[in-house]
Amino acid sequence: MEQKKEMTDFAVVENRRVAETYVELVLRPVGKLAKVVPGQFAEVRVEGAEGVMLRRPISIHDIDTEANTLSLLVQIVGRGTRRLSQLASGERLNLVYPLGKGFSRPKSTASHILLVGGGAGIAPLYYLAKTLSREEVHITTLLGGRSEALIPARDKFMPLGEVCLTTDDGSAGVQGLVVDHPCFAEAYDMIYTCGPTPMMKAVARSAAARDMSCEVSLENLMACGLGACLCCVVDTDTGHQRVCKEGPVFDISGMTKWYELC
Ligand SMILES: Cc1cc2nc3c(=O)[nH]c(=O)nc-3n(C[C@H](O)[C@H](O)[C@H](O)COP(=O)(O)OP(=O)(O)OC[C@H]3O[C@@H](n4cnc5c(N)ncnc54)[C@H](O)[C@@H]3O)c2cc1C
Ligand code: FES
Repeated sequence: MEQKKEMTDFAVVENRRVAETYVELVLRPVGKLAKVVPGQFAEVRVEGAEGVMLRRPISIHDIDTEANTLSLLVQIVGRGTRRLSQLASGERLNLVYPLGKGFSRPKSTASHILLVGGGAGIAPLYYLAKTLSREEVHITTLLGGRSEALIPARDKFMPLGEVCLTTDDGSAGVQGLVVDHPCFAEAYDMIYTCGPTPMMKAVARSAAARDMSCEVSLENLMACGLGACLCCVVDTDTGHQRVCKEGPVFDISGMTKWYELC
């Protein structure tokens, strides 16, 4: 049965700058939070930004059930996300959520899991890491960015396991791409990744070559976010799939066509 979506008004509880071009918005709904699977996203209505008509898809970054709050990690790239970064405490934000298919649970035999994030793709991995940390698994998180100032939320992952970094300019961690980090060469029972498409394809290709299970969370451009307009489709081994509906998370076993195309 399809999961029920909600259109809900949230109040901004906090808006804090967490990296050079990133803010974290902590939001509280009028009622009780809906149940969210890590990797699902919200379509956010942006009010007060000229020319921004469509809702913007943003991943659920964190859920605090006790505080009844949901967090979004937003990278400022254009008019919509700039307006989101300017929201003040007490302002209202309307979300349609939870949307899409999230990450699957690792097999019960899985003991070592790798999360690989780049840029805004780090956002959904935090709620995933928090959820996985309640199970008997060892989590390694590998985060990459152009420079140290452009890797958000890395400190939050530290209590949950080992954190490895790569940067293009060498300002933190290993200089190079995430796939160049020695921790990437280790064996894992499951790899979850979200970030720029070339990064995810490189991760998927390597995982497939080493026969490791892997899920990728795609961030294709979206319009409706609800499966109606087909503007977000991706070409998979079984035909076109809507990223907003059948994804955003896909198992790479059905994505050979996607990751082999550079
Ligand atoms: C499922 C999903 C989850 C996402 N989760 C997050 C998240 O947690 N945090 C976050 O900051 N962003 C996330 N994004 C990307 C976010 O939706 C876009 O950055 C946002 O819509 C841009 O809106 P804007 O009005 O600021 O920029 P626009 O003015 O619309 O565009 C500015 C620039 O950003 C580019 N852009 C727009 N959308 C995307 C996109 N989807 N991917 C890459 N580049 C894009 C445009 O091509 C343009 O160059 C997600 C996208 C998807 C599809
Ligand atoms: S965004 Fe309209 S079908 Fe996916």
